This record gives sequence, structure tokens and C-alpha cells, in this order.
Amino acid sequence: MQENEIPRLGGWSEAELDRAFAAVAREVEKSAASIRSAEDKEQYRLRWLGRRQGRLKAISDAWLKGAPDLDTKKRIGQRFNTLKAEIDRLLELAGAGESGSELDAEAIDITLPGTQRKLGAEHPLIRTWNEIVAVFQRMGYSVGVGPEVETDYYNFESLNFPPGHPARDTQDTLVIVGQERKPLRDRLLMRTHTSPVQIRTMEQQQPPVRIIIPGKVHRNDAADATHYPIFHQVEGLCVDTNITFGDLKGTLDAAMKAFFGSSVKTRFFPSFFPFTEPSADVQISCPFCGGAGCRKCKQSGWIELLGCGMVDPAVFGFVQGKQPGYDPKKVSGFAFGMGIDRIAMMKYGIGDIGLLYSGDLRFLEQFA
Ligand code: DAH
Repeated sequence: MQENEIPRLGGWSEAELDRAFAAVAREVEKSAASIRSAEDKEQYRLRWLGRRQGRLKAISDAWLKGAPDLDTKKRIGQRFNTLKAEIDRLLELAGAGESGSELDAEAIDITLPGTQRKLGAEHPLIRTWNEIVAVFQRMGYSVGVGPEVETDYYNFESLNFPPGHPARDTQDTLVIVGQERKPLRDRLLMRTHTSPVQIRTMEQQQPPVRIIIPGKVHRNDAADATHYPIFHQVEGLCVDTNITFGDLKGTLDAAMKAFFGSSVKTRFFPSFFPFTEPSADVQISCPFCGGAGCRKCKQSGWIELLGCGMVDPAVFGFVQGKQPGYDPKKVSGFAFGMGIDRIAMMKYGIGDIGLLYSGDLRFLEQFA
């Protein structure tokens, strides 16, 4: 058979098709045997499989054109598929194992070092978040979440910050634009704390509740070394019968010891939050100097870490309409909230909160 000549088909019987295809298959095999280099291989591929000038295409066009019916076309088509698979197989094999051929130069050198993939690491903030959550999980708390875009009702009103109350001024709020026509309680804002999830949780479930809620919060704060318009808090809520201030102190003391080490002491000072009564600020003895005084505790030996208190009966009052189990005469509870960023900064000696949000690899790689 001549180069590029289209072999003739002497009929459409199975026997004739078999004969004609066997002849082409021999040609396919013969020309594959002379592949020596990568260039030969590409030539071979083009010669047989080339989309426009390929020999297989030319033969199939010629043979299919004359086919008398669909069944014959099908039988021819199937044979072409087999032939094509054979060419692919020969291409795959071509040159493999022929030592000294140019193809060997392209083979994979298994003695080369592999591609190193960089391992990611937990962000220091997330690591701290997980560690705090784990401490409370071991004490039987479940984990909750809530929305970052919140209504005025959940962020303030139901937490006993009535409209116009001066306590609202303690949280410099970022509001969503275009809400003026809604009643105040439905207006959207970026939540300024994780406390609204206390209400959302109680609306969803009857007491008893033991829940820990980590999350992102937003305030209209100018960025400096210790402030950033985004930061993170962990909220805690425990509601049951006969929960006392003693339970609050015991829980937070145990949690601080679990997190910072068993020699850490806690102390409670009277404070004010609209949604707790009484309220307290909690300080821990400085875990770095043991209370002797150092730079981290500004020489005082103590570090203020969180706010807490007994859930104000007025807060239960807001929930009771939806969940009658929160009768302030029957249940009591405590809540607490702490900043994750500050704890992470203290723990890892980070001097500027902005570094936590910079995405700067030179900073982040130190935690890998
Ligand atoms: N939500 C308060 C804040 O962001 C923190 C806080 C204080 C949370 C006392 C509480 C709590 O649950 O009982 O300033």
C-alpha cells in the first residue's frame, strides 16, 4: 500500500471489513516501530490522528461516504474506534524502555527532590478561639453561632439597652445604611458584641442552657495598637434552676486556670452591664510574672480579662413571650464575655492588633 493512498474496500461484508481494517492495523503497527525520538512520535501522532490531514480521518471519511446504510456505518465506526485506541496505545508505549533514545531524556528523574508544598498553620486568633472554646466544651458547654448583621432589637433592646439609653454610647456602632424608614428595633447594624446570641439561643431552647458563642464583632473604632473596627469575642451563658454568683465565680476561675495554668488567680470587681445584675469585671493574676509586676501587666500584677454577671430578670422577660420556661422566679443564670484578640495578643506577645488582620506572611509564618 502506498503512503497516503486510501486503501480500497471491496464490499461491506464482515469478512471484507475485517480484511481491510487488518491491513490498516498492520500499517499502523509498522510505522510505530520506527519511532525513535520525541519528534518521530509527534510526526506519527500527526500522521495518524491529525485532525485535518490525519490518515485515519481520511480513510474513515472515504469508507463511511460509500456505506449503504446506518448499520454498516456503525460497524465501520466501531472498527475505527478500536484502531484509534490501538494508535493511542502504541503512542503511549513508543520509546519507553529504549535506552539511549531521546525519549529517555524526557523521563522523570526520580532522584530529583520533590516539589515542596508549604504547610498552612492555624492563625493565632483562631488558635486562641479554639482553645477557649475547648476549655468550656470540657465543662459541658455546647457551641453556638449568630449573625454578624443584627437588628437593633437583638443587639440592644432585648439586652435591656432601651432606645436612647446612655449605655448604648459604650458601643460605638456601625449601622447599615437606608434603614431609617423601619421601626428602630428592626434596623440593621453590625453586631457590636456576641451578647445578642444569648437572646437568640434562649428563644430557640428551653432552660437549662450552657452555651459558648465565639464570633466576630464590629465597632466604629479608629484603628490603633489595641483597637480595630473588627475584633472577636467569646460569649458564655448558663441558665438553670438555682444558678448563683458562686457558680459564676467557680466556673470562670476553673476556666481561667484551665486556659492560663493552675497557679492563676481570679478576682471580681463590681461593674455595670445593662443585661446583668449584679455585674462584674474579672481580673486574673498576671500569668507571665505570677503577680510580681511586669510589662505585660503594666507592673500591677493583674490583667483585666472579661465582663460577667447574673442574667438580669428583665432579659428573661424579653425571652419569656416566646419561651415561657424563662420565668425569672424559677430560673437564674450567669453570662460572661471576653475579647479573643486581646488574649491572643497577650499570649503570643503581639504588640499591634492590626497584625492579626494584615494577612502579612512575615507575621503569620512565625506561628507555623
Ligand atoms: N457584651 C459585653 C461587651 O461587649 C461583654 C459582656 C459583659 C458580655 C458582661 C457578657 C456579660 O455576657 O455578662 O462589652
